[in-house]
Amino acid sequence: MELGDAALDAEHAQLQGHALRLLHAAAGEDGLAALQALQAHAREHFAAEDADLRRMEGGNARCHLDEHANVLRSFEEVGAVLARDVLDAEAKQRLVQRLALQLLDWLPEHVREMDAAVARQRFQARTGGAPVRIARVPARREERRAVR
Ligand SMILES: [Fe+2]
Ligand SMILES: [Fe+2]
Repeated sequence: MELGDAALDAEHAQLQGHALRLLHAAAGEDGLAALQALQAHAREHFAAEDADLRRMEGGNARCHLDEHANVLRSFEEVGAVLARDVLDAEAKQRLVQRLALQLLDWLPEHVREMDAAVARQRFQARTGGAPVRIARVPARREERRAVR
């Protein structure tokens, strides 16, 4: 999930941490508190990315903004169900666990497919250039044989 942007990487790790705490929270008060902490972090993180996205033209910025809004809406919907207190403790726990699992499943792909553009944009704004990634390329079969 690392993009090489220290702030984004730290915020994503925190988001994942909040989702894990929600997954393991006990029913009732704990679940609601964990959800509220997750919600507060996500709101702040998405608002910062949204500000960059509104400055970006084209690409998948619109789609990215929509994904953030949909995730926040899911948090609000689950929070509203918990607050209405119409479910028993077990059903509440299943609900928050399902939400946590969906978020944990969604996050890595969102970071790879969408947040990478925000990281590039921030890098460009800081340096005026495009980031370069250096990675080891696996040797071709003939080259590996020649080395032996
Ligand atoms: Fe993000
Ligand atoms: Fe994002």
